[in-house]
Amino acid sequence: MSWINDKAQLELARVREAREMGVYPFFRPFETGGLRTSVAGHPFVNFSSNDYLGLTTHPRVKAAAHKAIDTFACGLSSSRVQATTVAHVELEERLAKYFRFPRALVTTTGYQAMVATIMALADEKTTLVLDQLSHACILDGTFLSAGTPKRSPEVRFFNHNSARSLERILKSRERENAMVLVEGIYSLDGDKGTLAEIVEVCDRYNAVLIVDDAHGSGTLGEHGRGILEDLKLEGRAPIVVSTFSKVFGGIGGIILGDDDVIDLIKHTARSFVFSATLPVPIVAAAAEILTMLEENGPALVAELHENAAYMRGELTRRGFDLGASNTHIMPVMVRDEKKALVMHHMLYDKGIYMVPITYPGVKPGEERLRVNVTRGHTRDEMNLALDALDELGAMCEIRVQDRPAAT
Ligand SMILES: Cc1ncc(COP(=O)(O)O)c(C=O)c1O
Repeated sequence: MSWINDKAQLELARVREAREMGVYPFFRPFETGGLRTSVAGHPFVNFSSNDYLGLTTHPRVKAAAHKAIDTFACGLSSSRVQATTVAHVELEERLAKYFRFPRALVTTTGYQAMVATIMALADEKTTLVLDQLSHACILDGTFLSAGTPKRSPEVRFFNHNSARSLERILKSRERENAMVLVEGIYSLDGDKGTLAEIVEVCDRYNAVLIVDDAHGSGTLGEHGRGILEDLKLEGRAPIVVSTFSKVFGGIGGIILGDDDVIDLIKHTARSFVFSATLPVPIVAAAAEILTMLEENGPALVAELHENAAYMRGELTRRGFDLGASNTHIMPVMVRDEKKALVMHHMLYDKGIYMVPITYPGVKPGEERLRVNVTRGHTRDEMNLALDALDELGAMCEIRVQDRPAAT
Protein backbone atom coordinates (compact mmCIF):
# COMPACT_ATOMS: atom_id res chain seq x y z
CA MET A 1 0.00 0.00 0.00
CA SER A 2 1.45 3.38 -0.94
CA TRP A 3 0.69 6.87 0.37
CA ILE A 4 -1.98 7.31 -2.32
CA ASN A 5 -3.99 4.47 -0.78
CA ASP A 6 -3.58 6.05 2.67
CA LYS A 7 -4.70 9.40 1.24
CA ALA A 8 -7.77 7.84 -0.42
CA GLN A 9 -8.67 6.00 2.78
CA LEU A 10 -8.40 9.19 4.83
CA GLU A 11 -10.16 11.56 2.47
CA LEU A 12 -13.07 9.24 1.66
CA ALA A 13 -14.30 9.05 5.25
CA ARG A 14 -17.56 10.92 4.54
CA VAL A 15 -18.28 8.85 1.43
CA ARG A 16 -17.73 5.62 3.41
CA GLU A 17 -20.00 6.83 6.18
CA ALA A 18 -22.81 7.66 3.72
CA ARG A 19 -22.44 4.22 2.09
CA GLU A 20 -22.51 2.48 5.46
CA MET A 21 -25.69 4.36 6.39
CA GLY A 22 -27.19 3.33 3.02
CA VAL A 23 -27.74 6.95 1.97
CA TYR A 24 -24.95 7.42 -0.61
CA PRO A 25 -26.73 9.28 -3.45
CA PHE A 26 -24.25 9.75 -6.31
CA PHE A 27 -23.20 8.01 -9.53
CA ARG A 28 -26.39 5.98 -9.88
CA PRO A 29 -26.22 4.17 -13.25
CA PHE A 30 -29.27 5.28 -15.30
CA GLU A 31 -30.67 2.69 -17.70
CA THR A 32 -31.89 5.19 -20.32
CA GLY A 33 -31.54 8.87 -21.15
CA GLY A 34 -34.32 11.42 -20.66
CA LEU A 35 -36.25 12.85 -17.74
CA ARG A 36 -37.91 9.47 -17.05
CA THR A 37 -35.43 6.71 -16.43
CA SER A 38 -34.60 3.87 -14.04
CA VAL A 39 -31.83 2.34 -11.98
CA ALA A 40 -31.84 -1.45 -11.61
CA GLY A 41 -35.43 -1.51 -12.84
CA HIS A 42 -36.59 1.17 -10.36
CA PRO A 43 -38.32 3.94 -12.35
CA PHE A 44 -38.24 7.63 -11.43
CA VAL A 45 -38.73 11.15 -12.76
CA ASN A 46 -35.57 13.22 -12.79
CA PHE A 47 -35.87 16.68 -11.20
CA SER A 48 -32.12 17.28 -11.14
CA SER A 49 -31.61 17.30 -14.91
CA ASN A 50 -30.46 20.38 -16.81
CA ASP A 51 -32.44 19.38 -19.92
CA TYR A 52 -34.46 22.56 -19.34
CA LEU A 53 -36.43 22.52 -22.59
CA GLY A 54 -36.85 18.73 -22.54
CA LEU A 55 -35.48 18.46 -26.11
CA THR A 56 -32.56 16.09 -25.51
CA THR A 57 -34.59 13.00 -26.43
CA HIS A 58 -36.71 14.64 -29.14
CA PRO A 59 -37.00 12.33 -32.22
CA ARG A 60 -35.69 15.11 -34.50
CA VAL A 61 -32.57 15.49 -32.35
CA LYS A 62 -31.91 11.75 -32.28
CA ALA A 63 -32.46 11.49 -36.04
CA ALA A 64 -29.95 14.29 -36.69
CA ALA A 65 -27.33 12.53 -34.57
CA HIS A 66 -27.99 9.16 -36.29
CA LYS A 67 -27.56 10.74 -39.71
CA ALA A 68 -24.27 12.39 -38.70
CA ILE A 69 -22.87 9.03 -37.52
CA ASP A 70 -23.18 7.67 -41.06
CA THR A 71 -21.03 10.46 -42.49
CA PHE A 72 -18.65 11.31 -39.65
CA ALA A 73 -18.75 8.37 -37.17
CA CYS A 74 -18.39 9.13 -33.45
CA GLY A 75 -15.03 10.83 -33.41
CA LEU A 76 -12.45 12.56 -35.59
CA SER A 77 -9.41 11.34 -33.68
CA SER A 78 -7.80 14.72 -33.26
CA SER A 79 -8.23 18.30 -32.07
CA ARG A 80 -10.10 21.05 -33.93
CA VAL A 81 -6.80 22.40 -35.31
CA GLN A 82 -6.63 19.45 -37.69
CA ALA A 83 -10.12 17.96 -37.33
CA THR A 84 -12.71 20.64 -38.04
CA THR A 85 -15.72 19.74 -40.20
CA VAL A 86 -18.24 21.72 -42.22
CA ALA A 87 -20.74 20.85 -39.47
CA HIS A 88 -18.63 22.62 -36.80
CA VAL A 89 -18.15 25.70 -39.00
CA GLU A 90 -21.83 25.91 -39.96
CA LEU A 91 -22.97 25.56 -36.35
CA GLU A 92 -20.54 28.30 -35.24
CA GLU A 93 -21.92 30.65 -37.86
CA ARG A 94 -25.50 29.90 -36.85
CA LEU A 95 -24.77 30.29 -33.10
CA ALA A 96 -23.11 33.67 -33.68
CA LYS A 97 -26.16 34.84 -35.63
CA TYR A 98 -28.65 33.47 -33.10
CA PHE A 99 -26.91 34.93 -30.05
CA ARG A 100 -26.12 38.18 -31.91
CA PHE A 101 -22.34 38.09 -31.61
CA PRO A 102 -19.83 38.60 -34.45
CA ARG A 103 -18.29 35.16 -33.97
CA ALA A 104 -18.69 31.84 -32.12
CA LEU A 105 -16.33 29.01 -31.29
CA VAL A 106 -17.57 25.51 -30.45
CA THR A 107 -15.45 23.55 -27.94
CA THR A 108 -15.75 20.06 -26.49
CA THR A 109 -17.19 21.05 -23.09
CA GLY A 110 -18.41 24.23 -21.44
CA TYR A 111 -15.78 23.76 -18.74
CA GLN A 112 -13.09 23.67 -21.42
CA ALA A 113 -14.57 26.78 -23.09
CA MET A 114 -14.23 28.85 -19.90
CA VAL A 115 -10.73 27.58 -19.10
CA ALA A 116 -9.73 28.33 -22.71
CA THR A 117 -11.12 31.86 -22.56
CA ILE A 118 -9.37 32.77 -19.31
CA MET A 119 -6.08 31.11 -20.28
CA ALA A 120 -5.96 32.81 -23.66
CA LEU A 121 -6.78 36.30 -22.42
CA ALA A 122 -5.43 36.79 -18.88
CA ASP A 123 -1.75 37.63 -18.37
CA GLU A 124 0.57 39.49 -16.00
CA LYS A 125 -1.15 42.79 -16.83
CA THR A 126 -4.57 41.41 -15.83
CA THR A 127 -6.63 41.42 -12.64
CA LEU A 128 -9.24 38.65 -12.72
CA VAL A 129 -12.27 39.57 -10.60
CA LEU A 130 -14.60 36.70 -9.70
CA ASP A 131 -17.96 36.48 -7.99
CA GLN A 132 -17.38 34.54 -4.77
CA LEU A 133 -19.89 31.87 -5.87
CA SER A 134 -18.21 31.20 -9.23
CA HIS A 135 -18.55 27.82 -10.92
CA ALA A 136 -15.58 25.44 -10.84
CA CYS A 137 -14.73 26.15 -14.51
CA ILE A 138 -14.17 29.84 -13.70
CA LEU A 139 -12.17 29.01 -10.58
CA ASP A 140 -10.07 26.39 -12.34
CA GLY A 141 -9.35 28.62 -15.37
CA THR A 142 -8.33 31.36 -12.95
CA PHE A 143 -6.08 29.19 -10.78
CA LEU A 144 -4.50 27.59 -13.83
CA SER A 145 -3.64 30.98 -15.30
CA ALA A 146 -2.49 32.27 -11.89
CA GLY A 147 -0.08 29.34 -11.66
CA THR A 148 1.27 29.64 -15.19
CA PRO A 149 4.79 31.09 -15.41
CA LYS A 150 4.98 34.54 -17.03
CA ARG A 151 1.19 34.97 -17.00
CA SER A 152 0.08 34.90 -13.35
CA PRO A 153 -2.70 37.51 -13.27
CA GLU A 154 -3.81 39.08 -9.99
CA VAL A 155 -6.88 37.25 -8.61
CA ARG A 156 -9.59 38.98 -6.55
CA PHE A 157 -13.11 38.02 -5.44
CA PHE A 158 -16.20 40.19 -4.88
CA ASN A 159 -19.28 39.47 -2.74
CA HIS A 160 -21.90 37.48 -4.57
CA ASN A 161 -23.92 39.64 -6.98
CA SER A 162 -22.77 42.87 -5.25
CA ALA A 163 -21.95 45.68 -7.67
CA ARG A 164 -20.67 47.76 -4.73
CA SER A 165 -18.22 45.08 -3.69
CA LEU A 166 -17.15 44.72 -7.34
CA GLU A 167 -16.55 48.44 -7.55
CA ARG A 168 -14.34 48.37 -4.44
CA ILE A 169 -12.23 45.61 -5.99
CA LEU A 170 -11.93 47.31 -9.37
CA LYS A 171 -10.90 50.58 -7.70
CA SER A 172 -8.13 48.91 -5.71
CA ARG A 173 -6.83 46.52 -8.37
CA GLU A 174 -3.11 46.37 -8.94
CA ARG A 175 -3.00 45.53 -12.63
CA GLU A 176 -3.91 47.64 -15.64
CA ASN A 177 -6.48 45.36 -17.32
CA ALA A 178 -9.50 44.04 -15.44
CA MET A 179 -11.57 41.01 -16.42
CA VAL A 180 -14.78 40.39 -14.46
CA LEU A 181 -16.31 36.89 -14.49
CA VAL A 182 -19.95 36.30 -13.61
CA GLU A 183 -22.80 33.88 -14.36
CA GLY A 184 -26.21 34.37 -15.94
CA ILE A 185 -27.83 32.02 -13.41
CA TYR A 186 -25.97 30.63 -10.40
CA SER A 187 -26.97 27.00 -10.57
CA LEU A 188 -26.75 25.97 -6.91
CA ASP A 189 -28.98 28.83 -5.76
CA GLY A 190 -31.00 29.44 -8.92
CA ASP A 191 -30.58 33.22 -8.74
CA LYS A 192 -29.86 35.42 -11.74
CA GLY A 193 -26.66 37.45 -11.96
CA THR A 194 -27.34 41.13 -11.22
CA LEU A 195 -25.93 42.06 -14.58
CA ALA A 196 -27.56 45.47 -15.06
CA GLU A 197 -25.55 46.90 -12.14
CA ILE A 198 -22.44 44.85 -12.91
CA VAL A 199 -22.32 45.98 -16.58
CA GLU A 200 -22.53 49.57 -15.44
CA VAL A 201 -19.62 49.21 -12.97
CA CYS A 202 -17.53 47.37 -15.60
CA ASP A 203 -18.12 50.21 -18.07
CA ARG A 204 -17.07 52.81 -15.49
CA TYR A 205 -13.84 50.99 -14.64
CA ASN A 206 -13.07 49.88 -18.19
CA ALA A 207 -13.28 46.22 -17.20
CA VAL A 208 -14.03 43.39 -19.65
CA LEU A 209 -17.09 41.39 -18.58
CA ILE A 210 -17.27 37.65 -19.26
CA VAL A 211 -20.62 35.99 -18.65
CA ASP A 212 -20.99 32.24 -18.15
CA ASP A 213 -24.56 31.71 -19.32
CA ALA A 214 -24.60 27.90 -19.15
CA HIS A 215 -28.01 27.87 -17.42
CA GLY A 216 -29.48 30.98 -19.10
CA SER A 217 -28.91 30.06 -22.76
CA GLY A 218 -32.19 28.76 -24.14
CA THR A 219 -34.06 29.48 -20.90
CA LEU A 220 -33.95 33.25 -20.34
CA GLY A 221 -35.12 36.10 -22.57
CA GLU A 222 -38.17 35.95 -24.81
CA HIS A 223 -36.30 34.04 -27.55
CA GLY A 224 -33.98 32.12 -25.20
CA ARG A 225 -30.90 34.18 -26.03
CA GLY A 226 -30.07 34.20 -22.34
CA ILE A 227 -29.47 36.60 -19.49
CA LEU A 228 -28.41 39.47 -21.76
CA GLU A 229 -31.68 39.30 -23.72
CA ASP A 230 -33.64 38.87 -20.47
CA LEU A 231 -32.16 42.02 -18.92
CA LYS A 232 -32.04 43.97 -22.20
CA LEU A 233 -28.26 44.12 -22.09
CA GLU A 234 -27.39 42.62 -25.48
CA GLY A 235 -24.18 44.19 -26.79
CA ARG A 236 -23.03 45.13 -23.26
CA ALA A 237 -20.83 42.09 -22.50
CA PRO A 238 -17.99 41.36 -24.95
CA ILE A 239 -17.80 37.61 -24.23
CA VAL A 240 -20.41 35.02 -23.32
CA VAL A 241 -19.45 31.42 -22.61
CA SER A 242 -22.07 28.69 -22.67
CA THR A 243 -22.65 24.97 -23.07
CA PHE A 244 -24.51 22.29 -25.00
CA SER A 245 -24.86 20.21 -21.82
CA LYS A 246 -28.11 21.82 -20.68
CA VAL A 247 -30.65 23.02 -23.29
CA PHE A 248 -28.63 21.90 -26.33
CA GLY A 249 -29.02 18.21 -25.68
CA GLY A 250 -25.53 16.81 -25.41
CA ILE A 251 -22.13 18.11 -24.49
CA GLY A 252 -19.96 20.91 -25.83
CA GLY A 253 -19.01 24.51 -25.18
CA ILE A 254 -19.73 27.82 -26.90
CA ILE A 255 -17.60 30.96 -26.79
CA LEU A 256 -19.20 34.10 -28.26
CA GLY A 257 -17.21 37.27 -28.95
CA ASP A 258 -15.54 39.56 -31.47
CA ASP A 259 -13.66 38.17 -34.49
CA ASP A 260 -10.11 38.79 -33.30
CA VAL A 261 -10.74 37.71 -29.72
CA ILE A 262 -12.28 34.41 -30.82
CA ASP A 263 -9.41 33.92 -33.27
CA LEU A 264 -6.90 34.46 -30.47
CA ILE A 265 -8.65 31.91 -28.22
CA LYS A 266 -8.86 29.48 -31.13
CA HIS A 267 -5.12 29.69 -31.83
CA THR A 268 -3.70 29.91 -28.31
CA ALA A 269 -5.99 28.29 -25.71
CA ARG A 270 -4.24 25.10 -24.66
CA SER A 271 -7.40 23.40 -23.35
CA PHE A 272 -8.89 23.83 -26.84
CA VAL A 273 -5.85 23.20 -29.04
CA PHE A 274 -4.66 20.12 -27.14
CA SER A 275 -7.98 18.30 -26.65
CA ALA A 276 -10.15 16.38 -29.10
CA THR A 277 -12.86 17.79 -31.37
CA LEU A 278 -16.51 17.68 -30.39
CA PRO A 279 -17.95 14.60 -32.20
CA VAL A 280 -20.16 15.49 -35.18
CA PRO A 281 -23.27 13.54 -34.00
CA ILE A 282 -23.24 15.85 -30.97
CA VAL A 283 -22.75 18.90 -33.22
CA ALA A 284 -25.74 17.71 -35.28
CA ALA A 285 -27.92 17.28 -32.18
CA ALA A 286 -27.09 20.79 -30.96
CA ALA A 287 -27.72 22.18 -34.46
CA GLU A 288 -31.18 20.56 -34.52
CA ILE A 289 -32.08 22.10 -31.15
CA LEU A 290 -30.84 25.45 -32.44
CA THR A 291 -33.21 25.03 -35.42
CA MET A 292 -36.07 24.40 -32.97
CA LEU A 293 -35.17 27.56 -31.05
CA GLU A 294 -35.02 29.54 -34.30
CA GLU A 295 -38.43 28.16 -35.39
CA ASN A 296 -40.22 28.26 -32.09
CA GLY A 297 -38.02 29.77 -29.35
CA PRO A 298 -40.56 32.03 -27.62
CA ALA A 299 -43.13 29.23 -27.25
CA LEU A 300 -40.55 26.74 -25.92
CA VAL A 301 -39.24 29.25 -23.38
CA ALA A 302 -42.78 30.25 -22.35
CA GLU A 303 -43.69 26.61 -21.69
CA LEU A 304 -40.65 26.22 -19.42
CA HIS A 305 -41.62 29.35 -17.50
CA GLU A 306 -45.22 28.17 -17.17
CA ASN A 307 -44.03 24.95 -15.50
CA ALA A 308 -41.55 26.87 -13.33
CA ALA A 309 -44.26 29.32 -12.20
CA TYR A 310 -46.56 26.43 -11.24
CA MET A 311 -43.87 24.63 -9.24
CA ARG A 312 -42.65 27.82 -7.55
CA GLY A 313 -46.21 28.79 -6.58
CA GLU A 314 -46.94 25.36 -5.11
CA LEU A 315 -43.62 24.99 -3.29
CA THR A 316 -44.02 28.43 -1.76
CA ARG A 317 -47.67 27.85 -0.84
CA ARG A 318 -46.68 24.61 0.88
CA GLY A 319 -44.08 26.44 2.98
CA PHE A 320 -40.79 25.40 1.34
CA ASP A 321 -37.77 27.68 1.56
CA LEU A 322 -36.33 28.22 -1.94
CA GLY A 323 -33.39 30.34 -0.77
CA ALA A 324 -32.29 33.00 -3.26
CA SER A 325 -33.89 31.36 -6.31
CA ASN A 326 -35.70 33.51 -8.88
CA THR A 327 -35.57 31.12 -11.87
CA HIS A 328 -36.63 27.62 -12.97
CA ILE A 329 -33.79 26.29 -10.77
CA MET A 330 -35.41 26.24 -7.34
CA PRO A 331 -33.44 24.35 -4.68
CA VAL A 332 -35.48 23.17 -1.71
CA MET A 333 -33.44 24.27 1.31
CA VAL A 334 -33.03 21.51 3.90
CA ARG A 335 -30.14 23.08 5.87
CA ASP A 336 -29.02 19.76 7.36
CA GLU A 337 -26.80 17.17 5.66
CA LYS A 338 -28.37 14.03 7.12
CA LYS A 339 -31.91 15.24 6.41
CA ALA A 340 -30.94 16.11 2.82
CA LEU A 341 -29.52 12.62 2.27
CA VAL A 342 -32.50 10.91 3.92
CA MET A 343 -35.02 13.02 1.98
CA HIS A 344 -33.23 12.24 -1.29
CA HIS A 345 -33.50 8.51 -0.56
CA MET A 346 -37.13 8.56 0.47
CA LEU A 347 -38.05 10.67 -2.58
CA TYR A 348 -36.12 8.26 -4.78
CA ASP A 349 -38.09 5.35 -3.36
CA LYS A 350 -41.27 7.21 -4.34
CA GLY A 351 -40.03 7.66 -7.93
CA ILE A 352 -38.71 11.23 -7.59
CA TYR A 353 -35.04 12.02 -8.18
CA MET A 354 -33.75 15.17 -6.46
CA VAL A 355 -30.01 15.16 -5.84
CA PRO A 356 -28.79 16.40 -2.43
CA ILE A 357 -26.25 19.22 -2.51
CA THR A 358 -23.97 19.11 0.53
CA TYR A 359 -20.56 20.41 1.64
CA PRO A 360 -18.24 21.22 -0.12
CA GLY A 361 -20.77 22.12 -2.88
CA VAL A 362 -22.42 24.47 -0.38
CA LYS A 363 -21.50 25.69 3.13
CA PRO A 364 -22.51 23.48 6.10
CA GLY A 365 -26.03 24.53 7.10
CA GLU A 366 -26.99 25.37 3.49
CA GLU A 367 -27.66 21.80 2.34
CA ARG A 368 -30.47 21.48 -0.18
CA LEU A 369 -32.16 19.28 -2.77
CA ARG A 370 -31.56 20.21 -6.40
CA VAL A 371 -34.97 20.87 -7.93
CA ASN A 372 -34.80 21.86 -11.59
CA VAL A 373 -38.13 22.36 -13.33
CA THR A 374 -38.07 21.70 -17.06
CA ARG A 375 -40.46 22.16 -19.96
CA GLY A 376 -40.53 18.36 -20.21
CA HIS A 377 -42.14 17.72 -16.81
CA THR A 378 -45.88 17.09 -16.83
CA ARG A 379 -48.31 18.59 -14.32
CA ASP A 380 -48.91 15.07 -12.90
CA GLU A 381 -45.18 14.56 -12.37
CA MET A 382 -44.85 17.93 -10.66
CA ASN A 383 -47.83 17.11 -8.42
CA LEU A 384 -46.34 13.71 -7.54
CA ALA A 385 -43.09 15.46 -6.57
CA LEU A 386 -44.92 18.15 -4.60
CA ASP A 387 -46.97 15.66 -2.59
CA ALA A 388 -43.90 13.55 -1.83
CA LEU A 389 -41.94 16.64 -0.80
CA ASP A 390 -44.83 17.75 1.40
CA GLU A 391 -44.97 14.46 3.27
CA LEU A 392 -41.20 14.20 3.74
CA GLY A 393 -40.81 17.93 4.38
CA ALA A 394 -43.26 17.59 7.28
CA MET A 395 -41.44 14.52 8.59
CA CYS A 396 -38.03 16.24 8.43
CA GLU A 397 -39.46 19.54 9.70
CA ILE A 398 -38.05 21.66 6.90
CA ARG A 399 -41.20 23.59 5.88
CA VAL A 400 -41.81 27.02 7.39
CA GLN A 401 -44.87 25.76 9.33
CA ASP A 402 -42.90 22.81 10.79
CA ARG A 403 -40.16 24.92 12.33
CA PRO A 404 -40.31 25.47 16.08
CA ALA A 405 -41.94 28.83 16.91
CA ALA A 406 -39.46 31.52 17.98
CA THR A 407 -39.63 32.23 21.73
C1 LIG B 1 -22.30 27.63 -14.60
C2 LIG B 1 -21.67 26.52 -15.36
N1 LIG B 1 -20.66 26.81 -16.20
C3 LIG B 1 -20.06 25.84 -16.91
C4 LIG B 1 -20.43 24.52 -16.80
C5 LIG B 1 -19.66 23.49 -17.54
O1 LIG B 1 -20.34 23.06 -18.65
P1 LIG B 1 -20.07 21.62 -19.27
O2 LIG B 1 -20.94 20.64 -18.58
O3 LIG B 1 -20.43 21.81 -20.71
O4 LIG B 1 -18.62 21.32 -19.11
C6 LIG B 1 -21.49 24.19 -15.97
C7 LIG B 1 -21.94 22.79 -15.87
O5 LIG B 1 -22.20 22.25 -14.86
C8 LIG B 1 -22.12 25.21 -15.22
O6 LIG B 1 -23.12 24.91 -14.37
